[in-house]
Amino acid sequence: MIRLFNIDRATQTTPRGRADGEDGLGHPEHSPTSPLSIHDLTVAYHRKPVVWDVDLEIPEGKLVGLIGPNGAGKSTLIKACLELAPKASGLIQVYGQPYRKQRSLVGYVPQRESVDWDFPVSALDVVAMGGYHRLGWFRPVNKRCRSEAMQVLERVGLADYAGRQISQLSGGQQQRIFLARALAQNAKLYLMDEPFAAVDAGTERAIVELLHDLKSRGKTCLVVHHDLATVAEYFDWVVLLNMRVVDAGPTRAVFHQENLRKTYGGKLTVLSAAAEAVQHAGEWLVRVAGNAWFFAGASPGA
Ligand SMILES: Nc1ncnc2c1ncn2[C@@H]1O[C@H](COP(=O)(O)OP(=O)(O)OP(=O)(O)O)[C@@H](O)[C@H]1O
Ligand SMILES: [Mg+2]
Repeated sequence: MIRLFNIDRATQTTPRGRADGEDGLGHPEHSPTSPLSIHDLTVAYHRKPVVWDVDLEIPEGKLVGLIGPNGAGKSTLIKACLELAPKASGLIQVYGQPYRKQRSLVGYVPQRESVDWDFPVSALDVVAMGGYHRLGWFRPVNKRCRSEAMQVLERVGLADYAGRQISQLSGGQQQRIFLARALAQNAKLYLMDEPFAAVDAGTERAIVELLHDLKSRGKTCLVVHHDLATVAEYFDWVVLLNMRVVDAGPTRAVFHQENLRKTYGGKLTVLSAAAEAVQHAGEWLVRVAGNAWFFAGASPGA
């Protein structure tokens, strides 16, 4: 199987206890209707845990933001769901089954840095690969698949770049190619690692529209996102992660100043007067001092 992104298998260890799906019955606590159900998950690289004791039930048909500082384990958590990162313990199920039985239901948009952009494939090839699950890995990409891939490229505004080698695309175009690839897969659950990184305002709007379109078709999206100012506007649900899950739930209930403090620790200063406005109305301001980011945007209640 051709992979364009890194697989961290070098340090993979055997899961503690029963492996998920070993008996085909799944874990009693797993909800068969949840698109993504995670219990007691710990992920370790070189025996050092980087994601601890994660318990999550992602609800169906929601846009879910995965929020946390650099190094919090967001990409690792997503990769563990895709069996691309070493699970030290715990159980993960996709619609009540292990991922390997449900691959075709899961679309993945990798973080840009984890993609081998020198891989000698065109934009159209990358998108057409999204349809492989439906086509079967050992069948050549047929005409229908290519024409479907072309339609998706048009949807993300990149039809003119179909024949271009992926290294010769801009950062924002590369991002959209991988979104198009996930869309071509026609999955039910989308795991997107920073789809908004390196895109301009117009592309960001286009991606938001795509997310809403997916939601209107009952799809579930778990999206890694860094811009705290747009979290409340974009997501119905949030997971706040800093090696452990700080909190998870509906955005209105979970995305508040205290939880942001717990998630970002000393790196985050929420300007208190403005943070009040998060709860009530109007504008709010958040400063992430460590990264010198400064956000201004709408409040969750706006
Ligand atoms: N392949 C690897 N081998 C060893 N350590 C790794 C590996 N990949 C990630 N890590 C470490 O695991 C931790 C979590 O990394 P991860 O990439 O999941 O963070 P993240 O939340 O996605 O960060 P960012 O916002 O910067 O993308 C970090 O300390 C990182 O250095
Ligand atoms: Mg990451």
